[in-house]
Amino acid sequence: SPAKRLVIAVDGPAAAGKGTLAQALAQFLGLPYLDTGLFYRATARLALDAGAPLEEAVRFAEQLEGADLVRPDLRTPDVDQAASFVARQPKVRAALLQRQRDFAAATGAVLDGRDIGTVVLPDADVKFFVTASPEERARRRYRQRHGCNPQETATLAAEVEAIKQRDSQDENRATAPLRPAVDAHHIMTDGLDAAGVLKVVVAHLEKRGLLD
Ligand code: DC
Repeated sequence: SPAKRLVIAVDGPAAAGKGTLAQALAQFLGLPYLDTGLFYRATARLALDAGAPLEEAVRFAEQLEGADLVRPDLRTPDVDQAASFVARQPKVRAALLQRQRDFAAATGAVLDGRDIGTVVLPDADVKFFVTASPEERARRRYRQRHGCNPQETATLAAEVEAIKQRDSQDENRATAPLRPAVDAHHIMTDGLDAAGVLKVVVAHLEKRGLLD
């Protein structure tokens, strides 16, 4: 494998294409892939299901071991908002930190999230910060959820608003805010499809001499 236990951080705002990229890159390099947003989503889901106040979410983050991270109800709009809310809590973030680090340590890995390059894996071999315009991200998010493009501009506008609100919450929290690492390589994905983004990333790895 060309990957030599590479540790790769992929960060960026919601629906910028980082999950698609991280997954494709992991497959290309033969590395394991972890979507760290699922930890926050599962924590939020468990709290919602228990009818517990989201302020007490740390209890559920600590119980996450063995919880199902592939259940289909982790990407609903209520979980979008609740996950962003629980992700602001330092205790929740602390409870989830070591598991993320352990995942990368054993074999190398591709992790995607908001604070991978800044907090979880500051010594990652490569860091990417993936962005797209709010309009493009709203369209992608809608398509993910409904399998088609939004028919009405009002629907798209509402999605754009939800995305901007979540960005602002993720960027402005005190602990591990969404922010590019100083040594991150920025990729703007408007107008690129998944293959196009992967091409940019692989070219960068080649240039850095990481693919030998
Ligand atoms: O990537 P996502 O949309 O599935 O993430 C869900 C929420 O979790 C999002 O509001 C930001 C938060 N999150 C985080 O704070 N840190 C991460 N490493 C990953 C996600």
